[in-house]
Amino acid sequence: MTVVFLWTHSTTCIGQPLVINYDEAKIPAYNLPDPLIAENGLLVQTPSAWNQIRRPELLSLFSREMFGAFPDRQVKMEFEVTSDVTDALDGLARRKEVTIRLSGKDDKKSAEVKILLYLPAKINSNIPVFLGYNFYGNHSIQDDPDITLSTSWMRNNSEYGVKENRATEASRGTRSERWPVKMIVERGYGLVTAYYGDVDPDFHDGWQNGVHPLFYRESQQAPEPHQWGSIAAWAWGLSRIMDYLETDALVAQNKVTVMGHSRLGKTSLWAGATDTRFAIVISNNSGCGGAALSRRAFGETLRRINSSFPHWFCGNFAYYNDRESLLPIDQHQLIALMAPRPVYIASAQEDRWADPKGEFLSGVHADPVYRLLGKNGISETEMPEVNQPVGDSIGYHMRSGKHNVTDFDWQQYLQFADRHLK
Ligand code: GCU
Repeated sequence: MTVVFLWTHSTTCIGQPLVINYDEAKIPAYNLPDPLIAENGLLVQTPSAWNQIRRPELLSLFSREMFGAFPDRQVKMEFEVTSDVTDALDGLARRKEVTIRLSGKDDKKSAEVKILLYLPAKINSNIPVFLGYNFYGNHSIQDDPDITLSTSWMRNNSEYGVKENRATEASRGTRSERWPVKMIVERGYGLVTAYYGDVDPDFHDGWQNGVHPLFYRESQQAPEPHQWGSIAAWAWGLSRIMDYLETDALVAQNKVTVMGHSRLGKTSLWAGATDTRFAIVISNNSGCGGAALSRRAFGETLRRINSSFPHWFCGNFAYYNDRESLLPIDQHQLIALMAPRPVYIASAQEDRWADPKGEFLSGVHADPVYRLLGKNGISETEMPEVNQPVGDSIGYHMRSGKHNVTDFDWQQYLQFADRHLK
């Protein structure tokens, strides 16, 4: 099936039909760039050549052409534990809230990121945790009147109790279906979450809000074309949360799994690529700009994502709209940047917008890098049956159903973490 939209939001393509392809037979012929051939044309044959030459090359290509470079300065950062109770979830969990305060050079600009932690009450140290952003505030993941209600800007949503861009009491617990806190804690893991909009509100305001302005040079108004967009800012925020976790004696610093869904799955992948402190990286239905190969142009395309969400990637990325074959990278190389750490890619059968097959193939084509580093990535080369997890250090499943995070997904992530961390 081919769907044609007449796209009018972007000045670059007014009146041009935007073709969304859902037909395998119409995927353009493509050659993927080889993760193991360096820019000098030579084959990378040793782990040290990967680590010293090829990995840095790929990181800088993804940074310059796609997500945008992180700032090279530090900001001032303070942590404050604002609550800590030991009898949450009927005594099963210890619940903590922590504020990360970030401020620029002269304290004129600042941002606050509020973190919520649920940790198994019976364990006093070395707790492996899952870290993932939520879409509607910490109070939305669990119906608990003691969780601080977010006061940040939020997309309006009557179903989730968000009015006039602010959360209301009705918002509590509205996303709990996606966050099986009890199941996670009972399995001996902690859950750490924060609202992604604390780091950068998810609308295009020309980068005046969120963390971007903390780093502007005198008179700078927006990131340069090679500098970070919102996904990179969210990824950077995950690293700041990791900075806090390194100071929390309850948490096992070497057992932090970073997880994200959809745009936040794109974010967890970039966080995992750029910050090797993350022990495991999970992409849930991340699709275009995440795990899905761009060159397949199946479902969402670069033109579509850069038009609908012009703030997500860096300015340079729009150059590749309808020119995927000119990209010096593709998303299997993003997956390869996790190697040798375990990475899990999850798709949903009905989520064709995110191109499940393109997500699977990214894992398959990242496998040679894992092999070079002495790990079995994934040996399957054909799409597995629905609801059949496959792979070793590169895990994959395509769940039945829609674009979402379900208990089935979490069960696989817990099993994957058990397998690799215990
Ligand atoms: C849109 C967008 C996707 C994104 C998703 C989400 O559907 O096109 O790229 O992953 O939103 O984050 O929910």
